[in-house]
Amino acid sequence: MKTIIEPFRIKSVEPIRQTTRLQREGFIKAAGYNLFQIRACDILIDLLTDSGTSAMSTEQWAAIMRGDESYAGSDSFYRLEKTVQDLTAFRHVIPTHQGRAAERILFSLVCKPGQTIPNNTHFDTTRANIEVTGARAVDLPLPEAADTQARLPFKGNIHIEALERLIETEGASKIPLVMVTVTNNSGGGQPVSMANLEKVREITRRHGIPFYLDACRFAENAYFIQQGEPGYADLSPRQIARKMFSLADGCTFSAKKDAFANIGGLLCTNDDLLAGQEKDLLILTEGFPTYGGLAGRDLDAIAVGLEEVLDSDYLRYRIASTAYLGRHIADHGVPIVEPPGGHAIYIDAGRMLPHIPRSQFPGQALAAELYLHAGVRSVEIGSVMFGENARHELLRLAIPRRVYTQSHIDYLVEAILEINDRKHDLRGFEIVEQPQFLRHFSARFQPIAGE
Ligand SMILES: Cc1ncc(COP(=O)(O)O)c(C=O)c1O
Repeated sequence: MKTIIEPFRIKSVEPIRQTTRLQREGFIKAAGYNLFQIRACDILIDLLTDSGTSAMSTEQWAAIMRGDESYAGSDSFYRLEKTVQDLTAFRHVIPTHQGRAAERILFSLVCKPGQTIPNNTHFDTTRANIEVTGARAVDLPLPEAADTQARLPFKGNIHIEALERLIETEGASKIPLVMVTVTNNSGGGQPVSMANLEKVREITRRHGIPFYLDACRFAENAYFIQQGEPGYADLSPRQIARKMFSLADGCTFSAKKDAFANIGGLLCTNDDLLAGQEKDLLILTEGFPTYGGLAGRDLDAIAVGLEEVLDSDYLRYRIASTAYLGRHIADHGVPIVEPPGGHAIYIDAGRMLPHIPRSQFPGQALAAELYLHAGVRSVEIGSVMFGENARHELLRLAIPRRVYTQSHIDYLVEAILEINDRKHDLRGFEIVEQPQFLRHFSARFQPIAGE
């Protein structure tokens, strides 16, 4: 059969609410045209993020009932530790309440002012947790990745020559670790090849620098390797994921992505000394090392999710469904970051709406119109989020795992193509009120008045 179906049936449903355009005009105006400020019950299809928004399976809910809520030595922890060690072979598995808590603990221990952490592209919390220590977070994406239209198979790779140059100019002693983010979220959800990870391993070993993965979407990355990298077609996603982890000395992980959990994270390492220091810090803000800020039931849900995410039928459906959305809008003239990534489609709003200058936030204009037209929530990834550091003016449509069906995606395609047909009518925005930090969460906007 050619048709790829959702590899699950639905047992419990959550209604979503239809609203009229008139109602939505009221909601978005009251929210200062900022979609973070709209109540979730006023959204029809919510593509704000794929993080913590997955649907859990019957096995995960069953595991939740098994959760052991003992303060110390909970069975839930030992089940999770076994699952993670089976997959990653890392000696130390430290639970945290989410990915950024793992980042904060790791970077506050390894970074000092004047040091540098390279990455293919740092996620925003990763960057912030490095910079708060006085160290520098440096992105080393492939130069070709700057072109949103270039269709490279592993566009998320770290730029190897740039990494070698950086180590030479900074000196290995100034680089406490090299990180690679799989898949490369901020770079469009694009995968990283095994060959690229192997090169990073070889370089870091030569210079005595630890190598860490930001492994949030490790399973989606493994699937891309299986499908697109010579030599991997006959390996299972689990075998490929194991190989990816075997190249690294440790990882940070947000269980809110490829573990289908609504909360949770992990910090893993092979370094005994560092693990001891990490556990000391963990106790200060997260909790005892066998729960790390989570309930026992959360640990069990993560353990089951880590098994389920490597199912080939699931991964085939997941990546096909993201590509389906991408191809159906791109092949009808909507510019997206090519090729479609794993967890999201990014519309190049700067390219789609060239009549709206960067200073008037084309991504925000498109986000507002998609909500007004169809009740869909998305997120601007451009000058609103990153100010003058924005490389592109993008609109991200992140797809929660196992939540929406093909007809939701068809509805979305129809909405985007209808907006594309009258894109010249869209107008930009100006900011009328903004906080000191992270303005995308709470800034208020108003539409630029027409002539
Ligand atoms: C690549 C990447 N790293 C780290 C994080 C942070 O994880 P969390 O949201 O669980 O703190 C995210 C979250 O979106 C991410 O996408």
